[in-house]
Amino acid sequence: MKTSISGKWALVTGSTRGIGRQVAIGLARQGANVIVHGRSAEAAAETCAVLSELSVSVEVVAGELSSVEGVESVIQQIREKVGDIDILFNNAAISQEAQPVLEQSRELWDKVFQVNVHALIRLCQAFAPGMQKKKWGRIVNVSSGIADQPDLAAYSVSKAAVDKFTRDLSVALKDDGITVNYVDPGWIRTDMGGPDAWDDVSSVLPGMIVPVLLPDGGPTGKGYSAQNYKMLSDSYQG
Ligand SMILES: NC(=O)c1ccc[n+]([C@@H]2O[C@H](COP(=O)([O-])OP(=O)(O)OC[C@H]3O[C@@H](n4cnc5c(N)ncnc54)[C@H](OP(=O)(O)O)[C@@H]3O)[C@@H](O)[C@H]2O)c1
Repeated sequence: MKTSISGKWALVTGSTRGIGRQVAIGLARQGANVIVHGRSAEAAAETCAVLSELSVSVEVVAGELSSVEGVESVIQQIREKVGDIDILFNNAAISQEAQPVLEQSRELWDKVFQVNVHALIRLCQAFAPGMQKKKWGRIVNVSSGIADQPDLAAYSVSKAAVDKFTRDLSVALKDDGITVNYVDPGWIRTDMGGPDAWDDVSSVLPGMIVPVLLPDGGPTGKGYSAQNYKMLSDSYQG
């Protein structure tokens, strides 16, 4: 059984391209209104063009997640355009150049953690209270199945932090009708995943949005693998 998200407002960070664009499309096919986010409004044009063919409302919010001010600007813009949101899909993230773990600088770790962890935490803090008021919400944080690649430790450790934060937040919000889960898309051919990755970006649907469509009172604090849901029925594809 899946829950209806028709008419709900969803923020998908990093939805100008790649996996985030697929998530935006998947949610819109289920009837959700979507806030498309990236660092520039221009970059959102292609995603918006696809969404314009679906009967949902779309807003664009531009802002850097690599600075505290940029994150606050994203939050402010959303409050002005939409107010509270119902679905927070923390997808945006950066990776890094591979380099020996013992040589990865403090600056690199700070940069990766700002975008992948601190921005995500701040967005949860900003928008969970609105969900608590409505006694309904879905928070999905994008994780990674990356393992045993110390040359990418700043990135992989940031994703481990996302997983732990998700589990902790799920406990704090468990009585408020809000599920908080994390999802691994698989190794996907995007700008981040590169051309040698195993799967096409279209393969992330419907799996990526399964944690959004969970029934009320459904699992929270859990990890999902998008590639496990390729065989789900068409109703999940919208
Ligand atoms: N691809 C994979 O194989 C793979 C595997 C495991 C997990 N993941 C995770 O899946 C998620 C999406 O990955 P992807 O492959 O789709 O990445 P991608 O193709 O590199 O797209 C990244 C998205 O994030 C936005 N973004 C990047 N830096 C940003 C910043 N500093 N501030 C604000 N927005 C920023 C980009 O928007 P603009 O450039 O338009 O600003 C873009 O929309 C990430 O969380 C990633 O860690 C990916």
